[in-house]
Amino acid sequence: TNGTFLPLQNIQGDIFVGMKKQLETFYFFHINDATSFKTALKSYVPTITSTATLLSPASSQPLAFVNMAFSSSGLKELGITDNLGDQQFSSGMYADATNLGDSLSNWKSTYAGTNIHGVFLIGTDQTSYITSYLSDIESTFGSSITQLDRIDAAARPGSEAGHEHFGFLDGISNPAISGFSMNVLPGQAIVPTGIILASRPGDLTIRPPWTLDGTFMAFRRFQQKVPEFNKWTLDNAIQNEAKTLTVQQGADYLSARMFGRWKSGAPTDLSPEVDDPTLGADPQRNNNFDFSHLGSLLISDQSKCPFSAHIRKTNPRADLGDLNTINHAIRAGTPYGPEVSSSESSSNTTTQDRGLAFVEYQSNIGNGFRFQQINWANTANFPPLKTVTPGIEPIVGQGSPRTAEGLDPANQSKGYTIPQFVIPTGGEYFFMPSISALTSKIAA
Ligand code: HEM
Repeated sequence: TNGTFLPLQNIQGDIFVGMKKQLETFYFFHINDATSFKTALKSYVPTITSTATLLSPASSQPLAFVNMAFSSSGLKELGITDNLGDQQFSSGMYADATNLGDSLSNWKSTYAGTNIHGVFLIGTDQTSYITSYLSDIESTFGSSITQLDRIDAAARPGSEAGHEHFGFLDGISNPAISGFSMNVLPGQAIVPTGIILASRPGDLTIRPPWTLDGTFMAFRRFQQKVPEFNKWTLDNAIQNEAKTLTVQQGADYLSARMFGRWKSGAPTDLSPEVDDPTLGADPQRNNNFDFSHLGSLLISDQSKCPFSAHIRKTNPRADLGDLNTINHAIRAGTPYGPEVSSSESSSNTTTQDRGLAFVEYQSNIGNGFRFQQINWANTANFPPLKTVTPGIEPIVGQGSPRTAEGLDPANQSKGYTIPQFVIPTGGEYFFMPSISALTSKIAA
């Protein structure tokens, strides 16, 4: 991929390409003094990593990549009162948490409110670079900022690298961007540039000119209850038609249907009964499906993929006629927290915090992350026009009770009440400006 017309040296690198994510530290800060913050920012801007830098040869790249974004309260603190045209951004995520379905009591106090003014994202492959980049930030910004929270996210070890904590390969399906993506993969959605970048064609909201080539970053801190998830899928293990599955295989079958993909990434729509790691690893095939099949009815058939499955709820493909180019966002999260310990796994109980530092980029929060969460994942009768009620999305869908049908292919009308395995514990809506706007607007 490379840009045809976009100023790639001006667009923060995590948005389209993604920074190296073996290690990704999120440094959330409060601004204490606007004037000295602006002075420091002016000198720091050259360190911010652009898309062009991420696409340049590795030999010319820095040791670590840094991006940054601001909350609405952060912009206000800097004296920027422009209306960015996004209601949820203006109010902040805490004010929206109940609408998203969160229990406020689960929110960490740091995120409860509008105290977080901004975030640095540092991506690299060695802990020592995280340390040195953080000390550079702290010496540059000095007492103009205070750290409020720090999340040291990291790819999981060994063969689990790239997999989230439940064990499923992540980062497979993101939309291609018109005007940027040169190699569109089979099955990949193509969205107008302005679905991701503010003020580009496809972004239908009038925003201040300086928002051009910035994006809204929805950040969510999700705790994942992995031993509890494993136990529940074992307790509810399902069978294949030939009744040949062990309990563990039946649990894997159930969890694959909850996601719509097997742990390897193979979509259940293409490999309904068994995992197929070769398919999962093949970018030419692992996204090339749309849930429709000749000779089966899209309105009633859940034999290959439940209507409520994570990837079907969050990207409904043929359920919406393959026509939706609006409700897309680019995902760029990283897991945080340790591997499950033997005592956690033997007691089926989480005792150490682990989960996903979830990031989605879009030009319009209400059309992107928020639409996927509220209108799709949390809405029992989505996708529409089915012969049955699909139910709540079983991984991240919120509601009570969390009920879904269609998970057992042999008994599709069997209803499940699914415990909550993903707990939102905080988050914020940020705006990630273009690199020139950092200087000309944020630091001005
Ligand atoms: C896809 C995990 C939260 C939106 C996926 C995939 C996995 C996954 C394993 C399949 C791999 C891929 O297609 O790249 C998780 C976990 C979450 C989480 C463990 C929470 C702890 C969310 C949330 C949203 C979301 C909150 C939006 C509200 C999506 C989308 C896709 C996806 C849009 C791609 C669907 C497609 O294009 O086929 N997620 N996810 N995810 N997820 Fe999540």
